[in-house]
Amino acid sequence: MKDTYILGIESSCDETSCSIIKNGTEEIATIISSQIDIHKDYGGVVPEIASRNHVKNITFVIEECLNEAKMTFDDIDAIAITYGPGLIGSLLVGVEAAKTLSFIFDKPLIPVHHIAGHIYANSLVSELKFPLLALVVSGGHTELIKMDKHYSFEKLGGTLDDAVGECYDKVARVLDLEYPGGPKVDKLAHIGKCTYNLPVPLKDDSYNFSFSGLKSAVINLVHNEEQRGNEIRKEDLACSFQTVAVSEIVNKTRKAIEKNNIKNLIVAGGVAANKGLREEIEKLCNEMNVELSFPPMKYCTDNAAMIAAAGYFAMKDGRKADLSLNSKSTDTLK
Ligand code: KG4
Ligand code: ZN
Repeated sequence: MKDTYILGIESSCDETSCSIIKNGTEEIATIISSQIDIHKDYGGVVPEIASRNHVKNITFVIEECLNEAKMTFDDIDAIAITYGPGLIGSLLVGVEAAKTLSFIFDKPLIPVHHIAGHIYANSLVSELKFPLLALVVSGGHTELIKMDKHYSFEKLGGTLDDAVGECYDKVARVLDLEYPGGPKVDKLAHIGKCTYNLPVPLKDDSYNFSFSGLKSAVINLVHNEEQRGNEIRKEDLACSFQTVAVSEIVNKTRKAIEKNNIKNLIVAGGVAANKGLREEIEKLCNEMNVELSFPPMKYCTDNAAMIAAAGYFAMKDGRKADLSLNSKSTDTLK
């Protein structure tokens, strides 16, 4: 059978990325231009600055990717693009680039939901086995998604307010840690002790999450201690926060596995890089005899390899866009 090469483009937040993936599973080349250093000074991503930098970078990133792969557009079968959700100005840059290339080189245009991309990052390392549960934990999402077959998504639950990654970043900010704070909180948590008492989020029967109460509790605690002139033990607070956040995610995941006869759990999104979460999810899967897949660290945060991989399976599912494709800042995965 002829091999299929998908060129993927991702620009939904602060990474400009292009990748070429063979048959949805094999990485040929990936280029990621990260803007972390630019946004660090502001403590978070500034949307207007992000889109301006995507404009600056995108043609170089695509060119470099083709050069690294030693390919031209003649070798490419289709172009996969993140159309949403994300920052609208950032998304627009990628979508317009993909539409232009699709028109010039007469290649099919495959629209990819950003979360489908995070899920399919796993197909670059292992075969997805159904029925599958995807735990999506990123800066913008905390969701439990069930899949009975390729490119079929059923949302079981999600966050009612803040995403877990966003909560990590806010906690990091109040602890004076640099953006992106998730990895720094994770590192501190491993040398601290769980000495602060923090509220357990959403105690209910659903698969939903709520992290804003936990976030506010940490922020209030820090402000109160500062006003009293008490020193904050950052590593202990990081450990206390991480323990509550991780156990909330693990508990809801356990319930979803039990009730849905799940055989394969995949974890996706930037927070999948979290060491504390990895350890607890591994324990859970051993205990429940469920096969577990984590993307390697390089595919956890935003990248175009996951978009090109998802694009392959989206194309097989018959999904195709025309030049009227528009970016969407919010959109349900379906
Ligand atoms: O998936 P991603 O790159 O972007 C979105 O689609 O949102 O995820 C970025 C998020 C940030 O909030 C970052 O702080 C968090 O992932 N993150 C982590 C870790 N590494 C990245 N959070 C906790 N622990 C980590 N080790
Ligand atoms: Zn992402």
